[in-house]
Amino acid sequence: MSKRSFASDNNAGVHPEIIEALKAANEGHVVAYGDDPFTERATKIFQKHFGRDIAVFFVFGGTGANVLGLKAITNSYEAVVCAETAHINVDECGAPEKFTGCKLLSVRTPDGKLRVEQIKPFLHGVGFEHHVQPRVISVSQATEMGTVYTKSELKTLARFAHDHNMLLHVDGARIANAAVSLNANLKEITADAGVDVLSFGGAKNGMMYGEAVVFFDQKLASDFKYIRKQGMHLPSKMRFISAQFETLLGGDLWRRSAAHANRMARVLATELEKIPQIKITQPVEANGVFAEIPAKYVPALQKKYFFYVWNEETSECRFMASFDTTEDDIRDFVALVRKTVK
Ligand SMILES: Cc1ncc(COP(=O)(O)O)c(C=O)c1O
Repeated sequence: MSKRSFASDNNAGVHPEIIEALKAANEGHVVAYGDDPFTERATKIFQKHFGRDIAVFFVFGGTGANVLGLKAITNSYEAVVCAETAHINVDECGAPEKFTGCKLLSVRTPDGKLRVEQIKPFLHGVGFEHHVQPRVISVSQATEMGTVYTKSELKTLARFAHDHNMLLHVDGARIANAAVSLNANLKEITADAGVDVLSFGGAKNGMMYGEAVVFFDQKLASDFKYIRKQGMHLPSKMRFISAQFETLLGGDLWRRSAAHANRMARVLATELEKIPQIKITQPVEANGVFAEIPAKYVPALQKKYFFYVWNEETSECRFMASFDTTEDDIRDFVALVRKTVK
């Protein structure tokens, strides 16, 4: 097996600057559960990025951020509209349904993006007691298919949501990759676009663990401290998440790491595209590359490189770049692909 693979940005280690931050935070005692100077500073940094009116809460992981963020803004008779490919729909073991009680209304979207026209049919039953009531549109930014919503696409979804008594939730496990891709800052593609609640990703961008739930209207967060604790996501040693965010977002580490991962994905796609047997299936807009590799070659490649087959029928495979992907990694992998398909 190769030392680094393209299976997932979660498979990467921790960025050395984050390790340093963790070491520095490991001095002495501070008050637990978030009443500490690290959390105060990290909160201010989030406010600098997203605006002073936000409420931000740190949690252990991305599933927790999504589930609890959604729980805060829904009743169990309501529904969340999302793409069929959404992490909340396929990769959270039903946790969103279990903890919110809401039905997920999923929509087929080949590129991972939701569009207003696909959401409209769900409004048919609004006000009708026999139907769940659509309350949230949830999108992933970047999407699970490696694509990125433009600012105007997000604004259109937010406007539609707000015109129909709904809220816009963003699963931002890869929001940094999306911001870099759009050459935007974090506020422009969230608060300014009309997003109501954001799961802000840390782990995929070089943190060891830790994500944040950001509310752009503090009223929506009024019960969140209870929801987080009851939802088992109140970290006692909060300072270690806060210290990581302080380092990730205090300077340009978030942007540097995401920009590097995105660039590596583009290089990988460009190289794979040169191989006639390989077909790139999605626009490479963030740090993911989707490629159809004839199924007969996949086992040989997987012997050396762990990666996921995303669609068994078409043999579409997913390759993710991360902050530590190198051009050598790409060269070695592409050389193996070339040799295998010859
Ligand atoms: C789009 C997306 N959202 C959320 C998550 C968070 O998942 P976890 O609970 O594993 O941190 C992931 C992780 O793979 C993801 O890809």
